[in-house]
Amino acid sequence: MQKLTSQADWMARAAKVLPAAGFGNFDPGFIAASGQGSRITDENGAEYIDYLIGSGPMILGHGHPEVLEAVLAQLPKGMTFFANNALGIELAEDIAAAVPCVEQLRYVSSGGEADMYAMRLARAYTGRDKILKFEGGYHGMSAEAQMSLAPAAQVNFPTAQPDSAGIPQGVADQMLIAPYNDLSAVEGLLAEHSDVAAIIVEPLQRIIPAMPGYLQGLRDLCTKHGVLLIFDEIVTGFRLAYGGAQERYGVVPDIVTLGKIIGGGFPLAALGASAEIMAHFDKAHVGAEGWLMQLGTLSGNPVAAVAGLKTMEILRRPGQYDRLRGFGRRLQAMQVSALNKAGIAHQVVGDETLFDIYFTDRPCLDYRSARHDDPAMNVTYNQVLRDHGILKSPGKLYPSLALTEADLAQTEAAVAQAVAAIS
Ligand SMILES: Cc1ncc(COP(=O)(O)O)c(C=O)c1O
Repeated sequence: MQKLTSQADWMARAAKVLPAAGFGNFDPGFIAASGQGSRITDENGAEYIDYLIGSGPMILGHGHPEVLEAVLAQLPKGMTFFANNALGIELAEDIAAAVPCVEQLRYVSSGGEADMYAMRLARAYTGRDKILKFEGGYHGMSAEAQMSLAPAAQVNFPTAQPDSAGIPQGVADQMLIAPYNDLSAVEGLLAEHSDVAAIIVEPLQRIIPAMPGYLQGLRDLCTKHGVLLIFDEIVTGFRLAYGGAQERYGVVPDIVTLGKIIGGGFPLAALGASAEIMAHFDKAHVGAEGWLMQLGTLSGNPVAAVAGLKTMEILRRPGQYDRLRGFGRRLQAMQVSALNKAGIAHQVVGDETLFDIYFTDRPCLDYRSARHDDPAMNVTYNQVLRDHGILKSPGKLYPSLALTEADLAQTEAAVAQAVAAIS
């Protein structure tokens, strides 16, 4: 009989061939073996309710039968072409119909790539070089995005601090960093710097909501100063609402980046804007000077496209977002109730479709204020949840549409244990 390989065996093997023993994403001590519906199983055979959901894409849960059927039907017809294909074109049509700022789009394979091109596109369109980003805002791994994402030291705004080795100082010099949720800071920076091409912003920064009027304020400032507004909707797209944050908050950016859900669990992301802005990807339209060269081996991959198309078709059915929000509300309420009973200071931060708890009684408005009073409490809370069959990121909880009443009951019991552990 073949020997089963356990979680510990896989960790030892990973430590030899992977730096830091992992892919760089999630806790390398967790080796995912399979996912089905709302549940994920590790290599020891332990089952968890999955609130990580692949960091967002699996909004329908794992292995949704209709998505599986669509993917399985496509596989024998071709896995990748490096050529236009009908599924990719249909997906672009559906995205353009859903997302207010999109007339045209380009595909890439990851969200970070989409963000990198979005910033480059804004530079090409405006002829300006600087990008304003927010401290703590996450936009992937490009040199520009790796600025003041998780700075250890607090420096004065708008100085950019690289989060990664290997980034030339010249990139930092082109970035302006501002605190999230502070319109006057942005107003001051735009008044002072006439060479800003774009503001890139997560409409829900990690999990921190924009304060009422903030996104509209950014929109107005961008319009006033001829700066393009980029919404990074890699996470919020097709999650906060079918039309994403733009639909939910009623603020339309110039450029959007999308990923995660639109690939249905496969590598696919996109950036979109008006036809006028997107014309910079068309050399015949803008000439060699204004042209952005852009291509990628897997761009518009038909397997990813069909998975995204089916996922989005299911999300369009009546009541899906109400159901997702209902789950989120209940997951928030069960934690608030247990924490209140135990007298533990906390804030629920986020949207019903994506949120977490901060153990503090301070409002969490930006990178500097969104902090646990005692980070060890959060570590313990998440560890005890994990011990009781709840898998989540240490800073986010994603509800999926696959959740069941039994999942919610099990989660509530696990929350009781986690709250007891930190009381
Ligand atoms: C807001 C945001 N932007 C960009 C990205 C990068 O996407 P990817 O990991 O597909 O490169 C992420 C990933 O989590 C994200 O949350």
